[in-house]
Amino acid sequence: VPLAGAAYDIVIGDGVLADLPGLLERYCPSAHYAIISDSHVAPLYGERVRSALAQRANVTTAVFTAGEWNKNRETWSSLTDQLLAAGLGRDGAILAVGGGVVGDVAGFVAATYLRGIPYVQIPTTLLAMIDSSVGGKTGVDTAAGKNLVGSFHQPRLVVADVQTLASLPKSHLSAGMSEALKHGAIADRGYFDRLESSRDALLARDPAALADAVTTSVRIKALVVVADEREQGQRAMLNFGHTVGHAVETATGYSLLHGEAIAIGMAAEATLGQKLGVTSETDAKRLESALERFNLPTRLPDEALSARLMEVMRHDKKARSGEVRFSLLKKMGEIARGEKGEWTIPVSSELVLEVLEARR
Ligand SMILES: NC(=O)c1ccc[n+]([C@@H]2O[C@H](COP(=O)([O-])OP(=O)(O)OC[C@H]3O[C@@H](n4cnc5c(N)ncnc54)[C@H](O)[C@@H]3O)[C@@H](O)[C@H]2O)c1
Ligand SMILES: [Zn+2]
Repeated sequence: VPLAGAAYDIVIGDGVLADLPGLLERYCPSAHYAIISDSHVAPLYGERVRSALAQRANVTTAVFTAGEWNKNRETWSSLTDQLLAAGLGRDGAILAVGGGVVGDVAGFVAATYLRGIPYVQIPTTLLAMIDSSVGGKTGVDTAAGKNLVGSFHQPRLVVADVQTLASLPKSHLSAGMSEALKHGAIADRGYFDRLESSRDALLARDPAALADAVTTSVRIKALVVVADEREQGQRAMLNFGHTVGHAVETATGYSLLHGEAIAIGMAAEATLGQKLGVTSETDAKRLESALERFNLPTRLPDEALSARLMEVMRHDKKARSGEVRFSLLKKMGEIARGEKGEWTIPVSSELVLEVLEARR
């Protein structure tokens, strides 16, 4: 990820965790590592990381209870206290071992601990590998909303070992595939074709197929993030499916996985593009059936009332009076641009409501 002044590498592969000691030596040398992980991942991979490093460095492990609801300031506070008690100094480094929740909270600890220390992301969910470990966004949720307190802090290195996905619950594998399909749809038609044709291998967790998906997705996200580091415009394309998706998450009290909510969002936003004459019916249908083949939902759950979704979207920062702005598909592999080259297109509330009503 070639960010000016904060460039870092992402190592992706089958079994690359075995190379961790050497990789750390090269990219993030330290005499004291603090592993931050959650209660599901720590027993699976945390201990393996700890024992691999224990001969050459002091290693502290801090574990919090798994779950999005623990991505909060209390966890941040408890983790920083544990690191202080362990005597982790300015020459220390944090290893975030887990999914996006661990990555976000451990990254925020790294951003703030002693005013900022280096960290390495070791993502263990497909979503974390292809999405949350790229871009440097760290943070926690508050009662007022998700990700409202945080910071940009780029890791020194990301090590994505697709072998760790063998233990991932099936629903989380599909949820990660939702973001992968999004990457193909917005930026790379050939990738979308490949995801469709290797669907069985991906769902069977074939390491080569997974490594290809992670690599291609990471390249796409890194390209967009580097082009638009502080979210001035282009990064909006990564929000395809997310305007409706976020509203679905809010309206259903976060009972769906993020990837499931944005699958519904992508299907709805593709129909929206179709109604506006921006997206072809063939591409909209193709996206919807690909999502379904990866066991993802494309219809609104009963509790997500269209009017309520509309209200949530109006409150979203992207909303303007009487219309909501969307990143829409031009065709498979390409995002549509507005009249002046904008990355989002305004859509009337009436049309959005009509499309949502038809999607239950
Ligand atoms: N920083 C960013 O740019 C960014 C981008 C997208 C999402 N996110 C954040 O990521 C979070 C979601 O991430 P997630 O989907 O990875 O959720 P998660 O971290 O909660 O992981 C999902 C579940 O799988 C478990 N798990 C993780 N790895 C496992 C493995 N290999 N085997 C078995 N179980 C495993 C976890 O303990 C958890 O129960 C959200 O908080 C979201 O806000 C951040
Ligand atoms: Zn997302």
